[in-house]
Amino acid sequence: MVTKYVLNHKKEFEIFLKIEKVLKKTSSPAMNKFAKEETSIWIKTAKKYARKDGKVIEMGCGSGRVIGKLTAAGFCTYGFDINKLFVDYCKKNGLNAFQMDATKTVPNRHKAKYKMACMAINLLFNFSEQIRKKWISSAYDLLSDNGILIMSVYSDNKFSRTTIKERVKYYKDVIMAPTGYCVDFFDNKKRRGVHLCDKNKKECWSSDWASKNELLKEVNSWKGFKLISIKPMKCGIAWMLLLTKNDYIIKGKRQNIGH
Ligand SMILES: C[S@@+](CC[C@H](N)C(=O)[O-])C[C@H]1O[C@@H](n2cnc3c(N)ncnc32)[C@H](O)[C@@H]1O
Repeated sequence: MVTKYVLNHKKEFEIFLKIEKVLKKTSSPAMNKFAKEETSIWIKTAKKYARKDGKVIEMGCGSGRVIGKLTAAGFCTYGFDINKLFVDYCKKNGLNAFQMDATKTVPNRHKAKYKMACMAINLLFNFSEQIRKKWISSAYDLLSDNGILIMSVYSDNKFSRTTIKERVKYYKDVIMAPTGYCVDFFDNKKRRGVHLCDKNKKECWSSDWASKNELLKEVNSWKGFKLISIKPMKCGIAWMLLLTKNDYIIKGKRQNIGH
């Protein structure tokens, strides 16, 4: 079971800024379409659920791509990241950002403070299912009652196929595979994605959901949340998921959701 990972913060920061520069200069139709649609959904959802006075938080905000848009749209927006280089970069650009590890316990000062939590596309699929559960548990703690968790996740598509080799490189350089594991990829009809194998070449984790059903099965296992909707995005490379924090109150006592 892969429950921990190590990030090369410096390398990650360098790679992301480079990618952003390249994307600004060249026009990647799929990515441009995706980014426009994604932004409009974040804003529409924040209008509906967080209005202008509710706080919005992005988990793993990186360079501030998403929080920048939400801040510009007038929402009280925060972002956190484990990588201090990104936090400082966001702050330098006038954004509210702080350093926090999404896989650790959420500090009390941030508990139940946010109306909406966002997780953007390049996030969850980077981690094993056990680690994804930790992120979801943190989202639960950050959100106020009936808060909204919104996330974009890649669907099985051409885009995912064309980025596989770079993603393997990303695992080797940035999210460093634990000792004793090796990184490889699947790219066949049955399965696609980056995967980690143990010494016996046994697959222990694959990054992408093989199908919508597989994704749904996992989403339904996330305690404390109820799925409101899962919609394919028009750009054709991702799904948008909307969940609501669903408190379990048993005889007036809040049940331990036990992630
Ligand atoms: C692929 S980037 C995505 C950035 C941004 N969400 C976007 O879509 O532009 C993933 C981000 O998650 C951050 N991250 C990774 N593990 C984390 C953790 N345990 N807690 C908080 N942030 C983390 C990384 O430092 C990185 O900035």
